[in-house]
Amino acid sequence: MDRIIRWGILSTANIGIEHVIPAIQRASGCEVLGIASRKITGAEAAARKLGIPRAYGTYESLLDDPDIDAVYIPLPNHMHIEWMRRCLEAGKHVLCEKPLALKAQDIDEMIAWEKRSGLVAGEAFMVLHHPRWKRVKELIAQDEIGKIKHVDGFFSYYNDDPMNIRNKPEYGGGSTYDIGVYPVVTSRMVLGEEPLRVVAKGTMDPVMGIDTLSSFLLEYPSCSAAFTCSMQISPFQQMRFFGDKAILTLDTPFNTPNDRSVNLERVAGIFPEDISVREEFSACDHYTLQAEAFRKSIIEGVPFAGSLEHAKRNQRVIDAIYRSISVGDWVEV
Ligand SMILES: NC(=O)c1ccc[n+]([C@@H]2O[C@H](COP(=O)([O-])OP(=O)(O)OC[C@H]3O[C@@H](n4cnc5c(N)ncnc54)[C@H](OP(=O)(O)O)[C@@H]3O)[C@@H](O)[C@H]2O)c1
Repeated sequence: MDRIIRWGILSTANIGIEHVIPAIQRASGCEVLGIASRKITGAEAAARKLGIPRAYGTYESLLDDPDIDAVYIPLPNHMHIEWMRRCLEAGKHVLCEKPLALKAQDIDEMIAWEKRSGLVAGEAFMVLHHPRWKRVKELIAQDEIGKIKHVDGFFSYYNDDPMNIRNKPEYGGGSTYDIGVYPVVTSRMVLGEEPLRVVAKGTMDPVMGIDTLSSFLLEYPSCSAAFTCSMQISPFQQMRFFGDKAILTLDTPFNTPNDRSVNLERVAGIFPEDISVREEFSACDHYTLQAEAFRKSIIEGVPFAGSLEHAKRNQRVIDAIYRSISVGDWVEV
């Protein structure tokens, strides 16, 4: 019989309750065995709601449960590294929400731990597992849109609640940490290159002290990229890849829905009727695919797309963006 991976969830975070836990429960070969919260009542309520067999009143008690194989961490950003370390120390495989760290160098210790322990540790960038993103990479590799000259991307939503973890600098809040990471990770994945240098402009909230709107230019070896992210603009998402033969566009590229199909359009022209090819991707859940890929990495040793080395390379770009915002000039990645 196929081996079941029994997951434990650290906290009752929204992303877990709304998306990731149900997605893991639907993943083949996966079971969500337990959920922990700082208060047992919170863990019990979440366990009842989602049909999770075990509830724990501390994160430590979940890590002490020998029946848990793998842990999913959706804690505030500043807690990620500490809890990933504790999971590895407890002998658990661990999948942690993005951004894995607030500084690239913080990931080095996790890489060393993972190597020593033989466990699998990774960053939960669900987009890396969606078949549409794999198709974008394939089309570009096959020269279907010609030489890529430029990439542009935008990601926004509105949340100015000062109590939200995203609006607290000491929690690793800020637009770039929260959503600027997406155009960076997808452009790196598709281009198969690392940016050499970046220049960024951030608008800082004078009271909350986080970047509410950031725009950055990335100089890749083969092309340029321009991205904007904001936590104080009405919701919008777009990614476009500009080639010398055509332009690729994705609708809802990041929070891709799991209940309806999505498109990938290859446009060669400037009028709506000029769309040359529209490929439709039937509904699928990238969080479920992520859980299945993580399980495959544990059981078969298949490299996980959100590996720690990958996370470190992504974080180097995010570090450079924040450095550039503070010095107001180009900085090397
Ligand atoms: N991949 C994605 O699509 C996606 C989407 C959204 C968010 N995320 C990431 O997921 C993580 C969680 O985001 P979220 O919006 O779901 O968070 P959230 O709803 O605010 O939940 C965070 C949880 O962390 C626990 N916690 C422990 N110490 C805390 C503290 N000092 N302050 C606040 N909470 C504390 C709490 O759980 P207990 O009370 O149960 O202990 C809380 O419910 C972030 O890293 C974010 O970047 C990823």
